[in-house]
Amino acid sequence: MTSPLHAPVLKARVETLLSRMTLDQKIGQMTQPERMACTPEDVKAYHLGSVLSGGGSCPGENKPADWVDMNDAYWVASMEEDEQHLAIPLIYGVDAIHGNSNVLGATVFPHNIGLGATRDPDLLKRIAQATAREILACGVDWTFAPTLAVARNDHWGRTYESYSEDTQLVTSYAAPFVEGMQSDLGDDGVAACVKHWVGDGGTTHGIDQGETTLSLGELRDVHMRPYQPAIDAGVLTVMASFNSWNGDKCHGHKQLLTDVLKDEMGFEGFIISDWDGIDYLSEDYYDAVGKGVNAGIDMFMVSVEWIEFISHVRNHVLNGTVSMQRIDDAVRRILLTKFAAGLFEKPRPQERPWSNSDSFGADQHREIAREAVRKSMVLLKNQDELLPLKKQARILVAGKSADNRGHQCGGFTVAWQGVQDNESIVGGTSVWEGIKNQAANAVLSEDGLGLDADPTLHDVAVVVIGERPYAEGMGDVRYGDNVLVEAGSQIKGLMKILEPYGRTLELAESHPEDLATIKNISSRGVPVIAVLLSGRPLIINKELDEVASFVAAWLPGSEGQGVADVLLGDFDFQGKLSFSWPKEAKAELNVGDQNYDPLFPFGFGLNYGR
Ligand code: GLC
Repeated sequence: MTSPLHAPVLKARVETLLSRMTLDQKIGQMTQPERMACTPEDVKAYHLGSVLSGGGSCPGENKPADWVDMNDAYWVASMEEDEQHLAIPLIYGVDAIHGNSNVLGATVFPHNIGLGATRDPDLLKRIAQATAREILACGVDWTFAPTLAVARNDHWGRTYESYSEDTQLVTSYAAPFVEGMQSDLGDDGVAACVKHWVGDGGTTHGIDQGETTLSLGELRDVHMRPYQPAIDAGVLTVMASFNSWNGDKCHGHKQLLTDVLKDEMGFEGFIISDWDGIDYLSEDYYDAVGKGVNAGIDMFMVSVEWIEFISHVRNHVLNGTVSMQRIDDAVRRILLTKFAAGLFEKPRPQERPWSNSDSFGADQHREIAREAVRKSMVLLKNQDELLPLKKQARILVAGKSADNRGHQCGGFTVAWQGVQDNESIVGGTSVWEGIKNQAANAVLSEDGLGLDADPTLHDVAVVVIGERPYAEGMGDVRYGDNVLVEAGSQIKGLMKILEPYGRTLELAESHPEDLATIKNISSRGVPVIAVLLSGRPLIINKELDEVASFVAAWLPGSEGQGVADVLLGDFDFQGKLSFSWPKEAKAELNVGDQNYDPLFPFGFGLNYGR
């Protein structure tokens, strides 16, 4: 597929427009505030090139119509040409990383860790196409997806955003997802963003935004490789990573951003910073801005203090510490991307073909998600072939996550850190609802803890256990007591010091309620099938010993029905581990390691043997 970024006719249009732009108009295009910090009037007054929604930042009642109206207002303002302002369409960005999951009623697909277990690149493409339609239904043009992280340490809170610990598997998904999301970049396409460049999944101890210590050769082999097929497929944007490489922050790394990604790998779109990511480059914000621009970042996600950012860039140019050539390179890339995305030809968001479309959350999308759930589940144990269950069996469904669509969806769903109920996930089915739909004699444990288990009433129990939702550093598992997580911007005092998810990957330690529930039931003589909802492999030895069957269901999203489809035998298991499953919480355990000794190896997965 020839990248639309290479089209000579577009490059000519870029040069014509660039030649008409003032310095302020150019700097405005390089600036991306968060929606809560800017108005449509600001978009015109400061010539802003983009606005974003951070995770959970939603307009009005968070329905598609509210999103379309918001985007329409921003877009109209960006297109009001007059003596001071040129009509350059705004591009709006969101984290639609597993469906357009911020928005109420969206189809929420399994997070990437589950998609990795499907080994089905074509499914990835169909998921991306369906997600694009649900993004376009909201009048949005750009998603910060796919993540191409190769997560090497399960302690990382973003492991679930990674398809696999294996570079080749991640690489195999890059182009299909980009092609599905961007489509032909006409009415059906949404600009994609591969992230986070580079080495986000390779930090020491899996610390989010931490230090990745590797040779350049290792960095290329493990973490850079998935990006080339995405670039060749024409991905329009790349997001810089918070982590550092051998002590230097990626956001200020000219070799990584310019010499390797742009010059060597031929990336012609634009690089977006991560959330206030340049703040970490210096204690002095003016200095940090200069470092980020000169390293090769083209557009800056500057959540709140964007007016200050604009002023600093202008002063750097006037002081000669940032060249006009660098500014023009950044703006050229942004304009080329907007032309390639067809934004100059599109009508206002309210008048676009997919806006407010009833394809949003539609059954055909949910069927794709349900298929993905089925294909993502990995059967780790099936003693006495307890699975598949008979539909007329007397099934006791228990566990804290048995009837919780929020737990199924995980982070970056409606809220940044996710939600923990059914009501916030409009549409879809919990695991319990899915089983109940197909098994007339299934009952939900009253207290959820299985104390009502009774072998005279129940043939078998399905116990749904695991992690509660989390996102980014708040999902890290970190040892020691004084290790807290920084979130936000350190320069303008917006830094928040937050607790990590926990201190251990041992499930019986972090969630003792799960083993307790299992024992409540197994000790009463009812055999147990455990279904684990988690964003990563966990240490499950104690739980495993107590159950007859054990299923890793990852973070399956809104369509819990897919779990029931397989437990009840309509479909066989096909999922294969895309992450090695550890016996104990070690520093790292990855396929290919010397003395590789997992509980379940990469590629493992049982089935019904049909
Ligand atoms: C976050 C994440 C990034 C996301 C961005 C916008 O900090 O690192 O993946 O796209 O901010 O929400």
